[in-house]
Amino acid sequence: MSKKGATEIYQPGKEFSKKARISSMAQYRRLWRESIDQPEKFWAREASELSWKQPWKEVLDWKAPDAKWFVGGKLNVCENCVDRHAFGERRNKAAIIFEGEPGDRRTITYSQLHREVCQFANVLLARGVKAKDRVLIYMPMIPEAVIAMLACARIGAVHSVVFGGFSAESISDRLADSGAAHIVTADGGWRRGKIVPLKENVDEAIAKNKAIQSVIVFRRTGQEIAMKKGRDHWWHELAATASAKHEAKAFDSEHPLFILYTSGSTGKPKGILHTSGGYLTGTYTTCKYIFDMRDDDVYWCTADVGWITGHSYIAYGPLAMGVTQVIYEGAPNQPDFGRFWQMIEEHRVSIFYTAPTAIRAFIKAGDNFVEKHDLSSLRLLGSVGEPINPEAWRWYHRKIGGGRCPIVDTWWQTETGAIMISPLPGATPTEPGTATLPFFGIDAAVLDDYGKEVKANEQGRLVIRKPWPSMTRTIYGDKARFKKTYWSDYPGIYTAGDSARRDKDGNFWIIGRLDDVLNVSGHRLGTAEVESALVSHKAVAEAAVVGRPDDLKGQAVVAFVTLKKGFDPSPALQSELRNHVGKVIGAIAKPDDLHFAPALPKTRSGKIIRRLLKELVTTGTVTGNITTLEDFSVIEQLQNSIKGG
Ligand code: PRX
Repeated sequence: MSKKGATEIYQPGKEFSKKARISSMAQYRRLWRESIDQPEKFWAREASELSWKQPWKEVLDWKAPDAKWFVGGKLNVCENCVDRHAFGERRNKAAIIFEGEPGDRRTITYSQLHREVCQFANVLLARGVKAKDRVLIYMPMIPEAVIAMLACARIGAVHSVVFGGFSAESISDRLADSGAAHIVTADGGWRRGKIVPLKENVDEAIAKNKAIQSVIVFRRTGQEIAMKKGRDHWWHELAATASAKHEAKAFDSEHPLFILYTSGSTGKPKGILHTSGGYLTGTYTTCKYIFDMRDDDVYWCTADVGWITGHSYIAYGPLAMGVTQVIYEGAPNQPDFGRFWQMIEEHRVSIFYTAPTAIRAFIKAGDNFVEKHDLSSLRLLGSVGEPINPEAWRWYHRKIGGGRCPIVDTWWQTETGAIMISPLPGATPTEPGTATLPFFGIDAAVLDDYGKEVKANEQGRLVIRKPWPSMTRTIYGDKARFKKTYWSDYPGIYTAGDSARRDKDGNFWIIGRLDDVLNVSGHRLGTAEVESALVSHKAVAEAAVVGRPDDLKGQAVVAFVTLKKGFDPSPALQSELRNHVGKVIGAIAKPDDLHFAPALPKTRSGKIIRRLLKELVTTGTVTGNITTLEDFSVIEQLQNSIKGG
């Protein structure tokens, strides 16, 4: 570390730089410039490292906001992630080292992965799944989740993975929006020593849904579950009769690969659609330069496949690179907070990618859980999901990285498909709290309301000015919302929805969301979603939800609720409402604090002023402009109700 003025700069280690693909800032700058001046040349070079069954005619067809990448090219995404390695020198290399929460272990080589994926592709085909059909995947973090995704990709079906922590209602909403008629799930999964009843949730979600043609159930936990004749099938029984041979057909570069739902500023999650050739090129290229993946690495990303990180940096990018990766099913503190460190020691993990919220939980648990373990196999650390606070950064660097591992703080989104802003570990000087500089081909900037770049250290809107291969193509079934959400602030420019500033060296400091989206433990949660869950309860008249800073989660969910006539505030109703939100959305959305309010602060036109509520929960008082308020006494009443708990 060196001190430059008041700032704290960490230079990449000499040893690391020497071996890295990009080993100096001069090299980064040269390549970045080229990638911005001639993006098509840069991306074509990267894409040509993948296997294409038919070459593209044109690298990019761009009519904002519609991008087509590698136009006319054909490839099979699954073949690139599996077959390419399964028949060459990597055939007996571990693709996946799996550890279940109870401690069971399994290693799957590339050759075995190929067999399993082909077999499951044949299972899907036998169920009648065709190209472009949507398949909903609701699985624990086990290799079969990845196998199911890859099998869909192999036959051109579009997967829509739903995070295993989401509720039955969330599944049914996503089924309705995506029109999926097939579901892949498991009897359950292990989490904190308990079974997550996945199949039971699916049953509840589809009880009245006649459109579902099949539910394929992997046996993970072995407990009794209901199986509906004709509709539900055991994975192992279908696989037993399916051939392990499957010839992968080529699909168009713009063939849809998956839909992943993410929260926005309305109550309805957005189905972010990604396509094939560009997405794979983006995830592959970022794995190569940002994680600097090598054949002898053991890579571990602790995300769940239910989030974009699990798509891009578990299922697709790392496998396209042919790396060995660890997949872990359970909670970080099962049986105790030493679990991750023990796994890093035992599997000799060399690249570790996790979230700031997890790091903060480890800091709180105490260093003794870390100190017992030999973490000398680590060479690179990554962070994703929210701004990493400098204290957590330093601890991660010192305690986990032994002071020798570079940290890549990677900024990106479900919509961007791949990492957009990040240090390159062998080149970029880092500073705790900044994601540093844009990746190759990424023209990121911070703009003011008029579309002008702001001055150094001024806050503005984070945008991307040029198209990139892994960008989302649309919101499934809602092109108008796609245009409005991402492309209406400035013509032809993508707005990320984050505020940011750049320092005088050009480093990006991400400040937070500009919309009504919270970041709870690195997961996006729309305040409108929680509000609509609350008002669906019979006792609730109105609800307003805001975020409050939280030491562990980044942001905690705070709800203000007014009750209908005939209902009175009580601790029992408070917990009933919290559980109701858990049931409608999932446990991550349960409000941390729930206040009963006699009224909500509103403008004269009846709009709830969330800004005041935010200030109230953050500071305990309201000092800002309240002249637009319809009824001034509301603030006083709310202040009292917060003090009263
Ligand atoms: O606010 C930013 C924050 O997470 C949002 C994207 O959330 P999601 O689509 O769920 O994807 C999360 C994993 C890529 C962004 O708009 N965010 C993500 N990474 C960072 C971050 N904020 C600051 N620093 C990061 N490294």
